[in-house]
Parts: sequence; C-alpha cells; structure tokens
Amino acid sequence: MEISLRVNGVARELDVRPQVSLLDALREHLGLTGTKKGCDQGACGACTVLADGERINACLALAVQYEGREITTIEGVEHPLQAAFVGFDGLQCGYCTPGQICSAIGMLAEVKQGEPSAVTDDPAEAAVELDDEDIRERMSGNLCRCGAYNGIVSAIKEAAGIAEAGEDAG
Ligand code: FES
Ligand code: FES
Repeated sequence: MEISLRVNGVARELDVRPQVSLLDALREHLGLTGTKKGCDQGACGACTVLADGERINACLALAVQYEGREITTIEGVEHPLQAAFVGFDGLQCGYCTPGQICSAIGMLAEVKQGEPSAVTDDPAEAAVELDDEDIRERMSGNLCRCGAYNGIVSAIKEAAGIAEAGEDAG
C-alpha cells in the first residue's frame, strides 16, 4: 500500500504491506535505524517514537495506521534531555537510549498537561508533582539492560528543571 507520513518534519512516501510495523517501516524502508528493535512485542520500550507528540511503541503500531501523521524519531530530536543523559551517565551501551529519550519527551508533555500517573498522590490536583518515584513509574515501560536507571532519572529531572540543589551534570 502507498502511504505518506511526515517523519522528522519531512514528507515521506512509502510502499508497505499492510502488516508492516511502523518500526520496520522506519528502520528498513526509511533507513532510520536510531529507533531500536528490542523485544518486538511491546515489552521493552526500545522502539519508542513520538506520533503527533505522543509516545508510542512503534513495534506495536502498523505503518498504515499512521498515514498522514507526524512521526518523530531520535534522528529528529533536539532536546536538552540529550545533553542531560550524557552529563548524568544515563546511558552505557546506548541501545535503549533513543527510546528512553523519546519516551521522556512524551512523558514530560503528559506531565505538563496534568496527566496523573499510577503513583500520583492526588489525581485531582491540577499540577502534577514529578518526583523520583513518579519518573520511575512513568518511565517503567522503557527497560535498560545496563541498569542506567539512576542516571536516567537524574537526567530527566535536570531537563524538567527539577534537579536537586547540589547535583552536578559534570
Ligand atoms: S521493541 Fe517495541 S517495545 Fe520492545
Ligand atoms: S544503556 Fe544499555 S540498555 Fe540501556
């Protein structure tokens, strides 16, 4: 099927079979290999991209469902999170990092819109407090085999402007 997507701000035409995942369309048809394939079944978050600004697992999405949508992959990301991940050792092998960063961007947008998480004390509160527990809960769909979780949480706090006094990105 012929479909058109906007990927990282550029209109792209694709000819894909209906059963092709968005992940495979990005990696194999468009050569955007920054988005990683881990489990290929929705369990690890390595394939997280943004669709119209919302985070999705690209391995669970069919490319044809995203006709006309704006997809952002790590290749199209310019965000303070990237420097923060480096500064706080939020990555080791780096395999999970593109998905972590796309997921964190989507997650911060959810927080900005006041969306509660499973550990939000008072979901009725308009302003959601983003603490370590909440970040860990909201990022729990993104696994890291290297266990860089402490650095990931610190990087997200820094990018969200809630780094604790005395924390140093150096
Ligand atoms: S590859 Fe998509 S969630 Fe693991
Ligand atoms: S940095 Fe290696 S899997 Fe996360």
